[in-house]
Amino acid sequence: MQRKKQITIIKELMRQLDEKVNIDAGVQYRNPAKAYADKELAELEWERFFKEHPQVIGLSGALPEPGAYITVDDFGVPVLATRDKQGEFRAFVNSCRHRGVRLAEEGRGKRFKFMCPFHHWTYANSGELINIPRAHDFGDFDKSCHGLVELPAIEHHGLLMVHPQPDGHLDPVALLGELGDEIAGWNFDSLVYVGESLLENKLNWKLANDTFGETYHFGRLHKDTLGKLFQGDALHYEEFGRNHRFVWANHGIDQLKSLPEDDWHYEAATGWIYYLFPNIQLTGGGHTSSLIKIYPDATNPGRCRTRVSHYFSQEIIDEASKSDNVSSPDNVYDFDNGKRKLPSLEATMEIFTSTIEQEDYLMGETTQRSAESGVIKEFIFGRNEPALHHYHNTYREALNLPPLEKVT
Ligand code: FES
Ligand SMILES: [Fe+2]
Repeated sequence: MQRKKQITIIKELMRQLDEKVNIDAGVQYRNPAKAYADKELAELEWERFFKEHPQVIGLSGALPEPGAYITVDDFGVPVLATRDKQGEFRAFVNSCRHRGVRLAEEGRGKRFKFMCPFHHWTYANSGELINIPRAHDFGDFDKSCHGLVELPAIEHHGLLMVHPQPDGHLDPVALLGELGDEIAGWNFDSLVYVGESLLENKLNWKLANDTFGETYHFGRLHKDTLGKLFQGDALHYEEFGRNHRFVWANHGIDQLKSLPEDDWHYEAATGWIYYLFPNIQLTGGGHTSSLIKIYPDATNPGRCRTRVSHYFSQEIIDEASKSDNVSSPDNVYDFDNGKRKLPSLEATMEIFTSTIEQEDYLMGETTQRSAESGVIKEFIFGRNEPALHHYHNTYREALNLPPLEKVT
């Protein structure tokens, strides 16, 4: 991210805090409640945004070395993603070419060959069918034409991207658009995968996304957690086609005022999230990142699954093991070394995930019930919630739905 942009953002956040105003989109919108409960809409979203749309399945660190693999079962096509002997990221349908049995069990690990549990056909992690037991009994068969079905897969600026259809078009440059250079600058490819949580909740996947769409609630809903670390009533927001970035202030911003501009650390002053269409929330970059992937239930608009995976720089992992690296609400940044302090990796992951599940999603589940009642017809997005305006109008446009109605 350009230094000039960082300074512009920090100054804008300082201005809002000084003037005690938040961001102002200049417009409010009405969001129809049925957007969260309509079965036909849910089916359309599943087809267009998941089964037929490129997916970010992880950061590079999810496949840390040749032989590493992960399975993905979140968007209708079972995926086996590997890093082959040459270190190339590959993706296949996780299905044996004999009678379609699942090849790799759920999860992650390291393996250069995959043997089907049914009749032991064996494949290389680059997809080739390398062995058929008792091939003479099976009959004539051209092994070279029956490797795993390969999916388009590209590793781009540290993001692992897959298209769920073998003939799908995967263009990472177009998907990131003008955000590409900025994402590249954060070196997501250097981060180490540390762990993942799966949340299964009773709310529409868009409601789950909505909880990442504004910071106005930090000082209210999260007053004892995030509210102590961050100042949610100030926001910098920018759109990049279907994606966006929003940046909020943390308490470190107050300490910057006494420093010359050249010493303003962006990480000391802010927290930030990138939204990548259709279902990705990506926090941080630099030393830490959480990749949040939100998926609908294929048949029930009132259910969703969220995978929250955590990545840290090796430096931070080493730092976090030291006893003096303890953060407190007014001391989350090491100014001498330019790094965020962490209580411990486990605690950081736990706080992050439980805040989402115990606080944000709990709200969303009650909204879901309001939406499903049929009695409540609409919800309101305020002038200080531009990321919600963008997210909803973007997916509506992608489905040829009319834009949200303005409050007049
Ligand atoms: S189904 Fe895989 S070997 Fe038969
Ligand atoms: Fe929240």
